[in-house]
Amino acid sequence: MIATGVIQRYRSLLPVPEGLEPVSLGEGGTPLVRLGRLERQAGLRIPLFAKVEGQNPTGSFKDRGMTVAVSLARHRGRRAVICASTGNTAASAAAYAARAGMAAFVLLPQGAVAPGKLAQALAYGATVVEIAGNFDRALQLVRAMSERFEMELVNSVNPARLEGQKTAAFEVCDQLGRAPAYLAIPVGNAGNITAYWQGFTQYRQAGRVEGVPVMLGFQAAGAAPLVRGEPVEQPETVATAIRIGRPASWEGALRARDESGGIIAAVSDAAILEAQRRLAGEEGIFCEPASAASLAGVLQLARDGYFRDASGPVVCVLTGHGLKDPDRAHAMARPDQVRRVGADEASVAAVLEGGAG
Ligand code: F0G
Repeated sequence: MIATGVIQRYRSLLPVPEGLEPVSLGEGGTPLVRLGRLERQAGLRIPLFAKVEGQNPTGSFKDRGMTVAVSLARHRGRRAVICASTGNTAASAAAYAARAGMAAFVLLPQGAVAPGKLAQALAYGATVVEIAGNFDRALQLVRAMSERFEMELVNSVNPARLEGQKTAAFEVCDQLGRAPAYLAIPVGNAGNITAYWQGFTQYRQAGRVEGVPVMLGFQAAGAAPLVRGEPVEQPETVATAIRIGRPASWEGALRARDESGGIIAAVSDAAILEAQRRLAGEEGIFCEPASAASLAGVLQLARDGYFRDASGPVVCVLTGHGLKDPDRAHAMARPDQVRRVGADEASVAAVLEGGAG
């Protein structure tokens, strides 16, 4: 089967003009996986699912938005795209620009981007600029540069990005056959929670589902401006993807929270890493640290009894693939997990002894 992307699949629900040729890599259509073991361990009486967005073409949910943003930019005759990024947006913008025959310029916070993402941006041929500042500063800079040089700004401040990303909400509803009762999601620049809420409300309005979920957004404790109610000047977290102190879609996130009767809460780095480890070890799903904030948040709420009277499924959005951040993967491993032995049967057998039962 030839891959179809989110524009082909949901065209009637997207603001794309007739005659637009999609720039697509077959994004979307990601699996919704039941997390049965974690569900039991957490004592949840409602089904727990993961929407595995790491299975998109460049390994994150950004591809859903990028196909729409880049397709529209090319349709309007733009020759280049530009973005600020903690890594995933850069990788995605670079890939879709390459596919569109356009140039890509990405501004990254120096030393704060996971190596897999940097490698992707370079591999796809983007011009990579590291600034001596954080993501929030990079976003200010690309806003100015996009005007000065007539480049398409493909951060989530571009509404086309959110339009594409909202298709994940459509898919979750299609996969469940209903809207979930709860949707848990990591929050950084707050574009994705805004997009999901847009998607769920649109799907209800279109008569495709009856309800909408309660939105549960989670920020890393050291980068939690929405929880604190004010910007964080020096955001810090192991989850570099969401190390953001001034979310651009601040209002959108609060609207999603308030209109759905949901919450935006903080989770510690330790809880994020624990959730990441359990997803990999207990369920076979390897996501990057930022992604695990959604599960960390749900486990925290479960412990607090938040879901006591709940009915209906809870879906955790796992936003990016674990291989994006190989350093973290190595750090997660116990030192004795790799066993070095001689290249003979007896040495290998000694390690395996008793391990098969
Ligand atoms: N998870 C991952 C893996 C991300 O890369 C991001 C954002 C988020 C969650 C948060 O999404 O910003 O819409 O609230 N990454 C952006 C980037 C900032 O540059 O790649 P958000």
